[in-house]
Amino acid sequence: MDCKIDYQAPADLLKGRNILVTGAGSGIGRAAALSYARHGATVILLGRTTAKLEKVYDEIEAAGGPQPAIFPLNFEGAVLKDFHDMAETLDKEFGRLDGLLHNAGLLGRITPFEQYNPELWEQVMQVNINGPIWMTQALLPLLKYSADSSVIFTSSSVGRVGRAYWGAYSVSKFATEGFVEVLADELEHLGNIRVNSLNPGATRTQMRKTAYPAEDVSTLRTPEDIMPTYLWLMGPDSRGHNGGKFDAQPAKA
Ligand SMILES: NC(=O)c1ccc[n+]([C@@H]2O[C@H](COP(=O)([O-])OP(=O)(O)OC[C@H]3O[C@@H](n4cnc5c(N)ncnc54)[C@H](OP(=O)(O)O)[C@@H]3O)[C@@H](O)[C@H]2O)c1
Repeated sequence: MDCKIDYQAPADLLKGRNILVTGAGSGIGRAAALSYARHGATVILLGRTTAKLEKVYDEIEAAGGPQPAIFPLNFEGAVLKDFHDMAETLDKEFGRLDGLLHNAGLLGRITPFEQYNPELWEQVMQVNINGPIWMTQALLPLLKYSADSSVIFTSSSVGRVGRAYWGAYSVSKFATEGFVEVLADELEHLGNIRVNSLNPGATRTQMRKTAYPAEDVSTLRTPEDIMPTYLWLMGPDSRGHNGGKFDAQPAKA
């Protein structure tokens, strides 16, 4: 499991690329959107809270980045038609997609399985895996138009080794890693689309704080610290890597 934390991205790494980031309004997704824009990408900011997306939009504009776009979407309740409508809009606006970072995620509850609420379980599976899968299906034609497109699914250490009480979150991340293997193998012959999974590792965000409320956050890397791997995997330097499992930071000793 490869980690590129020391990667130095050229300033124009993503110049001319259209990249969609889900969950772009906060946490790791916000940092990725800002970082991709800083490296030249036109970023499509997708998320459920428009006000947060607008703030990121303003930050990109203030920094002189390429004009981004906002696409409000709540994975809960989103159906296939929503993803196809979205693909149609993006096709009209941009004509192709060169990158897709599936980052939006829901923790659910950390609780014994016997007490896990089935509705919450479904919600977590919808946001973390089912929604992203159908969104990917709808966007595949746009990704195929690109000469070099990168699809990144966000995993977690509990998507590689199961952990007690992590319930639907852990299962959704296992499913994510499995889906990446299936899709990567299926698209391998095309040569212009790569699909990989990326585990950010313990990162200072709201989700991490909810999962570990007593943790000293000063010991954690920030979303900005882990961006080198996000840039490497999105940009052309990772060409040829397909179906891989990557880490954005070295595992804690
Ligand atoms: N932080 C860590 O230590 C860590 C470790 C391993 C994996 N991860 C993974 O990294 C990714 C980002 O996590 P984070 O730590 O940055 O979490 P976060 O701060 O909680 O951000 C999650 C993002 O997902 C969006 N989101 C949640 N539900 C959504 C829905 N129904 N529809 C659309 N967007 C939705 C949120 O939107 P709002 O802002 O509008 O709520 C937010 O932008 C997740 O996939 C997570 O599983 C994080």
